[in-house]
Amino acid sequence: MKVLILTSSHRKNGNSNILAQEVNKGASEKGHSTTTIDLARLTINGCRDCGCCEAPKYNGCIIKDDMVSIYPQLIAADTIILASPIYWCNINGQLKQCIDRWKGIAPDREHNPFQGKNIGAIFSYGDTDVLTSGCVNAIKSLQDLCEYAQAKWLGAVYGTAFKAGDVLENKELLQQAKQFGNDL
Ligand SMILES: Cc1cc2nc3c(=O)[nH]c(=O)nc-3n(C[C@H](O)[C@H](O)[C@H](O)COP(=O)(O)O)c2cc1C
Repeated sequence: MKVLILTSSHRKNGNSNILAQEVNKGASEKGHSTTTIDLARLTINGCRDCGCCEAPKYNGCIIKDDMVSIYPQLIAADTIILASPIYWCNINGQLKQCIDRWKGIAPDREHNPFQGKNIGAIFSYGDTDVLTSGCVNAIKSLQDLCEYAQAKWLGAVYGTAFKAGDVLENKELLQQAKQFGNDL
């Protein structure tokens, strides 16, 4: 199975990136082929809603930035893992920008390569729990996305970690992330 992991933290040693690495380890252990793309180091512009990707043209996305190389990997993946820090009670801007641009290859529900794919997520947040941190909103957003795109929602691994690297002290959460990768 092809597993594509998209990370989005701008921090070196970001907690969500560390958890994503554990998922990667777990998936690799089980023999899956994994690729990680660090969205935070790429240039991904916002969707312009220009309609070029829509009927009757279906010309794909006209914005020629780093999404050009991500699109084929999204199409090829069986499983997509989205990793993000929680910013203002939801996913961060870098990941949102990328997801908005998925429209370039999924202009409507019928023309949508995400149908039947598995989608899961990794989140880290500074607050004490999934509700007060706003992580619950990120989970709901991605669940709704899966519902619309007819993809399978695999669930999420999430937990508290404030400063970069703090998550390394939470062995249980690291293990949970690795197990998530094992179970893909
Ligand atoms: C702009 C910004 C907004 C944030 N908003 C929240 C928030 O709404 N809830 C929360 O619990 N933590 C919030 N945090 C804390 C981060 O989620 C936390 O530090 C997280 O571990 C960062 O993940 P990373 O290390 O992968 O970048 C915010 C941090 C920043 C920089």
